[in-house]
Amino acid sequence: MDPRPIVLITGATAGIGLALAQRLAGTHRLVLCGRRAGSEYPDELPDGALYIQADFKDPLGAVEAIETALDEAGIEALHRVVINAGTGYYGSVESERPDTIRETLDVNLTAPIVLARHMAPFLEKVRGKLVLIGSVAHRGAANMPTYAASKAGLAGFARSLESEWQDRTAVQIIHPGPTATEMHEKAGYDAGKLRRLFFSAAGMADEIALLMDGSKKTATVSFGARLRRLVGKRSS
Ligand SMILES: NC(=O)c1ccc[n+]([C@@H]2O[C@H](COP(=O)([O-])OP(=O)(O)OC[C@H]3O[C@@H](n4cnc5c(N)ncnc54)[C@H](OP(=O)(O)O)[C@@H]3O)[C@@H](O)[C@H]2O)c1
Repeated sequence: MDPRPIVLITGATAGIGLALAQRLAGTHRLVLCGRRAGSEYPDELPDGALYIQADFKDPLGAVEAIETALDEAGIEALHRVVINAGTGYYGSVESERPDTIRETLDVNLTAPIVLARHMAPFLEKVRGKLVLIGSVAHRGAANMPTYAASKAGLAGFARSLESEWQDRTAVQIIHPGPTATEMHEKAGYDAGKLRRLFFSAAGMADEIALLMDGSKKTATVSFGARLRRLVGKRSS
């Protein structure tokens, strides 16, 4: 029997989720979720992980697929559930199409709510922790109105769960700042030279892994926040 804690990560086939899976591979048993079929998932996916195909455009179907796979693998408890999968489209509110509005809200908000509900008994068994990946855009971001709204909704959901689950399961929301992943290209945004200022996916995963082990309920990972933490450490 593998004694390592089990972590489930959604959106583990690319970017921050993949980097986090790689970061935790030695110390955790991994349950990785992605929408890609097994044959399309990246070579960098850590060996030995349980991979579950689940498309969050269909939140209920995806959560059912995850529950079935956990059941088949005999997994009854999860120490960490990291809801990281996310999507978005770049453009003014007038240019957003109904299908992309719906997809953004389903993947970034409806699916996390449904998944969190269904993962609650798995987490409660071991007093585990739910980690939601938000965005600094939750405060509002021009040309990403639905994305920003989905992340603001997620922040409200996190605050609600914190109160509801306070004696049962820890809840944390982490808001990453700009990170160099495929997400911007998929969203139709060219960051140009600004991309040089972005976190790397591995750097962001390191910050998230550190925060996950701490007790902060809400955290932002930006260069400013990192600098303040480092300076604070030095002067304490
Ligand atoms: N990159 C940033 O600057 C930034 C900043 C703040 C917050 N974030 C947040 O960080 C999280 C990870 O983003 P990232 O930058 O790593 O993006 P990414 O590289 O595009 O990765 C996103 C992951 O989510 C998966 N995903 C997307 N739509 C899905 C769906 N319908 N069903 C299942 N999985 C789906 C992707 O699958 P595929 O591989 O199949 O596309 C991928 O594994 C997101 O929640 C994002 O909002 C990112």
